[in-house]
Parts: sequence; C-alpha cells; structure tokens
Amino acid sequence: MQTVVIQGPSTLKGQINISGSKNASLPIMISSLLAKGSCLINNVPNLRDTRFLVSILKDLGCLVDFQKNTFIIKSTVIKKKSADYKYVSQMRASIVILGPTITRYKKFKIALPGGCSIGTRGIDLHLDALKLMGIKILIRNGYVIAERKKNKLDPIIHKFPKISVGATQNILMAATLANGISKLKNCAIEPEVIDLINFLNKCGANIKVKNRTITIKGVRELKLENHKVIPDRIEAGSYILATMATKGRLTLNNFNPNDLTFPLKIYQDMGLKIKKISKSSYEFNCKTLKPLKKISTKEFPGYPTDLQAQLVATQLKSALKSKVVENIFENRFIHIPELRRFGANISIIGKTVTIHKTLNLFGAEVMATDIRASFSLIIAAMMSKGTTVINRIYHLDRGYEEFDLKLKKCGVNISRKK
Ligand code: EPZ
Repeated sequence: MQTVVIQGPSTLKGQINISGSKNASLPIMISSLLAKGSCLINNVPNLRDTRFLVSILKDLGCLVDFQKNTFIIKSTVIKKKSADYKYVSQMRASIVILGPTITRYKKFKIALPGGCSIGTRGIDLHLDALKLMGIKILIRNGYVIAERKKNKLDPIIHKFPKISVGATQNILMAATLANGISKLKNCAIEPEVIDLINFLNKCGANIKVKNRTITIKGVRELKLENHKVIPDRIEAGSYILATMATKGRLTLNNFNPNDLTFPLKIYQDMGLKIKKISKSSYEFNCKTLKPLKKISTKEFPGYPTDLQAQLVATQLKSALKSKVVENIFENRFIHIPELRRFGANISIIGKTVTIHKTLNLFGAEVMATDIRASFSLIIAAMMSKGTTVINRIYHLDRGYEEFDLKLKKCGVNISRKK
C-alpha cells in the first residue's frame, strides 16, 4: 500500500498548473455512449478514476484509448450489456452509465454502487426518474436490471425531490434521445453539469438551462465532436486553501475563478489576497489568516461539500470556535479523527464541526479515507512540525493529478513510499 511522507512545517510557494476537472471528465466520457462517430476529449486528468472508467468502457466493448490527457473515442458501440460489480463498486460515478446505455439499448444491467465512506449515497433519484421515462427497473442479486419496452424513452416533466449532481446528469443524458421535450426541475447546476451539457449540445443535443430547470428536446441521434474539459475547481480550491494554511504565495495557471466565486469571497474574508496575472492565471497569498465564524456546505453556487474537509484543516491554527456545517452528505467528517492525530482540537455535534485554535500541530501517521478528506491531511501535515505519513494514498490519486510532484515543485518536502 503506497504512502506519502511529508516533513513539516512547509510553505507553498511557486506555481501549479490546474488539471482538467475529474467530475466533468467522467460524465462527459460516459455520455459518449449516447453518440455515433469518433472524437477527442482533451484536458482529461490522468487519474485513477479516469483510467478506471476507460477500463469499464473497454470492458463494455467500446474502442477507446487514453493518452496523456486526451481521451480518444473511436467507437462507443457496446457489445456487453452489463457494468459489473467489480467496476461499479469502486467508482460510484459509473452509475450514470445507465442513462445513456438504456437510451441506446433495450436492456442494460448495472451493479448497485453501494455506499462509501462519506455516506449511503442512494440512487433512488436516478431510478425513480428513469421509471417515469418508461424504463422497467428490477433490483436483483445486487444489480439494477433496466429494460426499455418502447422504441424510445418517454419525455418527462419532473421535479427532483432533492438536488443531485449524478441524477441530473443521468436523466438529462437519457432525455437527449427521448421521444419529445423533457423538463427537469430542481437540477444540480455545478460547472461540471454545464460542461456536460455544452459537450452534448456540440454533439447535436438540444438542451437549455434556466436557473435550476433543464429543458431537453429529444433529437434523433448525436454525433461525437471534440471537446476540452473545464479546469478542476476543486483541485484549485484545495491548493488555494493549502496556500492560506501555510501563509504561502501560489500562482495557479489554467484556473477559472468564476467556478469558485462564493468560496473565493469566503477566503478573502479570511485574509486571502488575489492578483489577476492573465485570463487564466491568478496569484494567491495570505499573510494572516482570520477566524471564520461559520460556513455551511450547499449545492452550487454555495460552498462546495468537496472543499469542506480542506477548509476544516486550514483553520486548525486560526479558528475561534469556528463552525463548519455539512449539509450534503451524512457522514463527511471521517477526516476529523485523523486531524485530531495532529493535535487538532475539534468537536462534532450532528452536522456541525467546531474548531478550536491549536497553537502547535505535530506530524503523525494518518489514514486517507476519501478523495477530499485525504487532501485535508496534506494541509494539516504542511502546518505541522515533524514527519507525517499518510496511508492509502490511492484516494489522493483518484482526484489529484500528480499532487506530490506539484507540491514538491512548490517547496513541500513530500515523497512517495512503497
Ligand atoms: C457528485 O457526486 C460528485 N462526484 C461528488 O464529488 C460531490 O461531492 C457530489 O456530487 C456533491 O456535489 C462526481 O461528480 C463524480 P449527489 P454525486 O448525487 O452525484 C444524495 C469527489 O470528491 N442522493 O449530488 O454522487 C446523496 O447521498 C466526489 O469528487 C440520494 O439520496 O452526488 C448525497 O447525500 C465526492 N439519492 C446528496 O444526495 C440519489 O439518488 C448529493 O449527492 C442521489 C443522491
């Protein structure tokens, strides 16, 4: 099991090129199953998850390849009508394979994704909407068996009972080839959802977004067109918080501040200074970190749950009974016991974490538990005196391209160990 070793304390100084968005790449790569032809998807981050998705698509029979940061699609005609448990159980995002495949094929079977360390992560919102589109759903032996009786899916007017990124993506993809106009309400509108819509419209779909309502006019077929994936706003936010935590100075290239408007406002209230260098390069520095009274995670454009753990770690030495409320997932505090191993003084009541200032943090051996929690351990290690060993770093490799090389180039004493 690979680990990383970090000698702290360290200050983040230098520049980092932000990679393409993992959470835009995955649904866009999957949406190619809807279309005919071939194309290149550029700026796809070379991560454990994107490489894993390529293996799932190859297992289905697609002619695809992944070279450096380009996903090459020659054909997405599938031969195998089942996404197996060994794949789906390791990457929940693969559940959005169901929408495209049941749109193009009469029958498809996909393993139930199961929960993960941050929550139960049901798929009821996905399945309920697909049933309304005329899909027969059977749950048997840990699989979802979907069957389409009609020649095309029925269009739907549907309000999601809860905002869900994955369910929005799954159903909007299914609606692109449905037999009429669908109107989906209470949708997720994260930049990654919009990037998926932009790609599909390039391929001939007819999708419009107004506030949280997405209107999809079913078309006869889609034809693949090249696309460049947006930058990863969560990777960028993670490095910005690391800069604030270590009072560093960092330039981010390939960064779009419009995807992090609200978090950047919060960080500026905490003392972050931002200087625009060019359209996609910005310098961040933070001399003094001010305590943040309270922040609650919300769906976009609110404060992202994917930057919650990193924000908790950043405040460990500056907090004044600072509160962070997690509203999206029911168990996204698994990083807290690990942060306590550095000497952090944090209490949890229900959905609220309260952080008390700790003057000194000390390196420790800790365990990565999910992609974003793992980055909070890196931030804590950089704030601590002494050696930190982070175990199970495959979680980091799932979401942060070459994180160790990027940090090393910015002055962090970090090394991978077998
Ligand atoms: C996406 O997950 C992201 N993953 C997550 O990022 C992100 O944290 C999440 O959206 C919220 O922004 C990808 O895009 C690959 P949801 P997703 O459906 O789509 C509940 C990362 O680190 N729910 O918006 O699975 C669910 O349990 C990952 O990159 C149901 O109850 O999230 C959760 O509490 C982690 N039933 C809430 O909704 C459903 O059918 C939001 O989940 C679907 C979801």
